[in-house]
Amino acid sequence: MKDISGKKQDLLVPKQDWPWWPLFPLYPYGKKKTLFKEIIQDQVWSFEQLQGIYYVAVPVRLTVVKVSGGLMIYNSLPPTAELLKDVVQLEEKHGPVKSIVLPTASGLEHKISLPALSRAFPKANLWICPGQWSFPIDLPLSWLGFPSDRTRVLFADGLPHTDCCDWFFLGPLDIGLGRFQEVSCYHKKSKSLLVTDSLIGIEASPPELFDFDPTALLFHSRENGDEPLLDSPEARKKGWKRIVLFASFLRPEKLSIPSIPNILKKSFKPGLRNPKSHFGLYPFEWDKDWESSSQKLLGISRPSIQVAPVLERLVFPRAKKSFIDWLAKVASINSMKWLISSHYSARVSFSSNDASVLKSRIIKRSWAPDKGNWSFLSWLDKSLLNLRIVPSDPRSRFKD
Ligand SMILES: [Fe+2]
Repeated sequence: MKDISGKKQDLLVPKQDWPWWPLFPLYPYGKKKTLFKEIIQDQVWSFEQLQGIYYVAVPVRLTVVKVSGGLMIYNSLPPTAELLKDVVQLEEKHGPVKSIVLPTASGLEHKISLPALSRAFPKANLWICPGQWSFPIDLPLSWLGFPSDRTRVLFADGLPHTDCCDWFFLGPLDIGLGRFQEVSCYHKKSKSLLVTDSLIGIEASPPELFDFDPTALLFHSRENGDEPLLDSPEARKKGWKRIVLFASFLRPEKLSIPSIPNILKKSFKPGLRNPKSHFGLYPFEWDKDWESSSQKLLGISRPSIQVAPVLERLVFPRAKKSFIDWLAKVASINSMKWLISSHYSARVSFSSNDASVLKSRIIKRSWAPDKGNWSFLSWLDKSLLNLRIVPSDPRSRFKD
């Protein structure tokens, strides 16, 4: 085992700089490592970065697809020099970035970098999901940095690259503060379905991005804040399972929060008095049998395709029909072979038959449960409902 606490990581190189990180301070803040991969030869490329809060970090993806005469970007990421270098190389071979798609109305993590990305490709059109909003004040798009002369609204202003892509949407739903909507794209040549948050595929092994810096995994692999961050394959896997549980349920069933005196008693120990170790502050206590509660989320031989519990319990709890209707559209794409989501694993094998099976399973199982791992999400949703922050019928407000 190797103690990595306090050591400088390779991550600290200038080309990964993201100076706008204070706008939405997500780990790893001002330095974003990008993992670039061709995932379907000459057709689809994936750019992944980690994104998270308190070391609960999962991969988020910008996908580039080949379209007639150039390239299209689906979903934005912070355009670090490292990321741009590889996109420019693709442009040299396949033609210019013609379009950048913002495929969601609500996910701030998907929009915050769009103004900077659009400035990096000044000739590309921006195609944005309908119903954009900002909080606490709903500002005009130009005030948020969207270039008004080349921004188009998907469906309202047409659709890009229809010779290569089929477009359809999930939602819209009223989520109280604004609107949830997501635009999916079926890229015909690669037989790939591009989605943002609607479906994810999670595997049991930690994503490759953590090979560059496993700190987040090791931080969450411990039982107490006074333990050093020790690296081993087992520690990485353990940390990943816990991160997936956090990301899925916010507060998993088998987790408790120790009292403040107990947290402090185990903090600030020698070797851990540094920001990387959060000074030993580890405000979590896992039950002995915590591991079994992660099993349903993780695929063993291939990523497990699922609806993210946060989405199901906080966005769709009273709109199962909207999700099923969307999944029926997905299941009708007979030629489909791959799912490429903006989070977790990609590409993942996903056929029309897989979508039908998933749809049948969802129809049969209870939707947005209240118990076990779902308890916290359920409490949160019910509280928002009681305070009338979220509506009882999310499908009634937006009819476009
Ligand atoms: Fe997201």
